[in-house]
Amino acid sequence: MRENHFDTEVAERYDEGSAEMFAPEVLGPTVDLLAELAGGRPALELAVGTGRVAIPLAQRGVHVHGIELSEAMVAQLRAKPGGDLIDVTIGDMTEATAEGRFRLAYLVFNTIGNVTTQDDQVAVFENAARHLEPGGFFVVENGVPILRRLPGSERFAVFDHTDGHVGIDEYDTATQLMWSHHYSSTDGTTYRRSSVPFRYVWPAELDLMARIAGMRLAHRWADWDRSEFTGASTRHVSVWRKG
Ligand SMILES: C[S@@+](CC[C@H](N)C(=O)[O-])C[C@H]1O[C@@H](n2cnc3c(N)ncnc32)[C@H](O)[C@@H]1O
Repeated sequence: MRENHFDTEVAERYDEGSAEMFAPEVLGPTVDLLAELAGGRPALELAVGTGRVAIPLAQRGVHVHGIELSEAMVAQLRAKPGGDLIDVTIGDMTEATAEGRFRLAYLVFNTIGNVTTQDDQVAVFENAARHLEPGGFFVVENGVPILRRLPGSERFAVFDHTDGHVGIDEYDTATQLMWSHHYSSTDGTTYRRSSVPFRYVWPAELDLMARIAGMRLAHRWADWDRSEFTGASTRHVSVWRKG
């Protein structure tokens, strides 16, 4: 049974805690690109969460089906205007089945890393491909591992340091595992820690996973605005095509 890191407490704070990811300048280009790739056909979001992307995409007229592990996250989605537009299958994206065939499957916001073994990440690609019609697209948005920021044998990198939140990533380069440690405070004195494990993965390794699943790279951009992916890019939006 896969561990669920998005329980009720996390789910209730998710949208507020990820407020910058809901900004129109982030969601606008995301939904534009996904709607174009869907081409009016149904889309499948793996790890749909609270519907951050699925709801605005559905409001554009794309029928969206989500797969999601956390019932608490889906409860948040259901409580929102437009939440009823999304069909959801509760389950693990390595194996859960959504009824139908899709032109587009997508997995955003670094969530491939929530699956913490290589075998299971390959299973996510295989499951996405299983749901796609021939010529369909699988889109992944993921960070590029920031190992160049780690001097010498250092294992920790601070990614956020604000009044109410300190975020530190811990890397184990032998296993390709990392943990995002979050220290959160409402009074600036007492901090609550939560740590979420990830498997970090290079774009080239994802390309191999796609090939195992019968897909080939069609595009790799640095962002949803289709800017060029370069050696300086900190994340990527990659599109593979089935068959
Ligand atoms: C960072 S959130 C992203 C949610 C949403 N896609 C978004 O962009 O806001 C990660 C989500 O992935 C879900 N998740 C993690 N592992 C999963 C798995 N193996 N199968 C299905 N959902 C999973 C979590 O429950 C959580 O809702």
